[in-house]
Amino acid sequence: MKRVFSGVQPTGNIHLGNYLGALKQFVELQDDHECIYCIVDMHAITVPQDPKELRDHILDVAALYLAVGVDPKKSIVFVQSDVPGHAELSWVLTCNSYTGELSRMTQFKDKSKNKESAPTGLFSYPVLMAADILLYDTDIVPVGNDQKQHIELCRDIAIRINNKYKKTFVVPDGRFLKEGARIMALDDPTKKMSKSAENIHSRISLLDEPSKIKKSIMKATTDSDGVVRFDVENKPGISNLLNIYSVLSGMTVPELEAKYEGKGYGDFKKDLVEVVVEALAPIKERYEQIRHSDELIEILKDGAVRADAIAKQTMKRVKENFGLGIE
Ligand code: TYM
Repeated sequence: MKRVFSGVQPTGNIHLGNYLGALKQFVELQDDHECIYCIVDMHAITVPQDPKELRDHILDVAALYLAVGVDPKKSIVFVQSDVPGHAELSWVLTCNSYTGELSRMTQFKDKSKNKESAPTGLFSYPVLMAADILLYDTDIVPVGNDQKQHIELCRDIAIRINNKYKKTFVVPDGRFLKEGARIMALDDPTKKMSKSAENIHSRISLLDEPSKIKKSIMKATTDSDGVVRFDVENKPGISNLLNIYSVLSGMTVPELEAKYEGKGYGDFKKDLVEVVVEALAPIKERYEQIRHSDELIEILKDGAVRADAIAKQTMKRVKENFGLGIE
């Protein structure tokens, strides 16, 4: 069985983009792959975090994993900082990555823009991400399009080390969905939907109330020609909504275009509200059941033990191949 690894940062506001780009894949893959899903809390501290909020967000994301359908009997679910191998391997990879390649990462450029100085952790963020992936001999990494550059870097580092030392790492592939890989902001369809945007109507969070979902969709930026047609270049707003509608309803984009021929954006948006509310209702219900349960903590503890057992094997091999330690 091929091994799958992915992670989500515990930063609150998990949204439809995270769901359609990544979480939906997590669930699809778990029947015929060995899946490991992580809550990457050490990535979250590359920007300042309130400790209490961080702890809450870790549990929020864990509960959301389960609420969307990740099954802890099939998949390992755990918190990154509970397995020391991530930080250990990250250092080894840091010594085999270059400031030049890291400074080309668009996420670092965006997050450090207009700042005189940025935390070193923000700069080496993609190296820690590479460590997450390589620590588990991962074959497949299901993510959204915004992580493509990070996956490329991870592959480069793995290949570089395999060539320089004994073959140490499996070289992973990213897995991107056709429709969900880049869900755009509702208020500005030229930007991706993000957890941190100030305008709450730019995104639909998975736990939003139906009234909020309605407001965000009815306000969503479209265009003035009033035709429901997929055309990313000229009609990015409506194309984004078509994408969301299509993935959540199972109808194809041409089927949707036909359904709304001769109708305005109002009818289309009203139906989309229903589709989104209906898709998110069971997720919200399951989330409420599990979020404050002891079961959630037990699942994460058990996940950390299982993940750590795999990580230890990899670290043993890494240390041997690099000549580190005396054990
Ligand atoms: P994060 O927490 O920002 O996002 C979690 C996942 O959601 C995807 N995503 C989107 N997909 C479609 N449309 C969007 N608008 C959208 N916004 C976010 C992301 O691509 C991601 O798959 N660096 C990662 C976390 C990470 C990781 C890893 C992922 C750390 N280590 C190892 C995979 C493997 C991140 O910040 O994701």
